[in-house]
Amino acid sequence: MVCLGNICRSPLAEGILQDKALKSGYQWKVESAGTGNWHVGEPPHPLSIKVAALHGIDIGHQRARQFVKEDFKRNDFIYVMDSSNYSTVKQISGSFWEDQKIELLMNELYPGENRNVPDPWFGNEDGYHTVFTMLNSACENIIKKHSSKTL
Ligand code: 4NP
Repeated sequence: MVCLGNICRSPLAEGILQDKALKSGYQWKVESAGTGNWHVGEPPHPLSIKVAALHGIDIGHQRARQFVKEDFKRNDFIYVMDSSNYSTVKQISGSFWEDQKIELLMNELYPGENRNVPDPWFGNEDGYHTVFTMLNSACENIIKKHSSKTL
């Protein structure tokens, strides 16, 4: 799960998908990163921690890190929050880039529409709730898609 700062959106996405995977009995290792390095080593934004906790998900242990090209090798799949993340990941990854391994997360909910997950960084708490709802629905579809494949 990749966003810009790795403190607002992608930590929530990591927490949500990891929680759903565990509850579905899938041994997935979900992680997140940011394309920028401003917040490396920091915990998620307090409002991301709060909104996750309201849904029973603890993301307080996460620490921000920057996306590195090796993430393409180490992960089976990469979801980005917006089109700007997509472009920056492409720049960072160079020859490690694999088209079939990366997708805008919201395309799991609205296939082919290339919608972005809005950045709540400059807004108030409402934005974090909106983002949670969007991420939760997209992650639910990832789980559903996987379970229909493994039936
Ligand atoms: P995120 O939000 O990409 O969802 O983690 C942001 C967090 C910090 C900044 C930008 C976006 N920043 O400019 O520091």
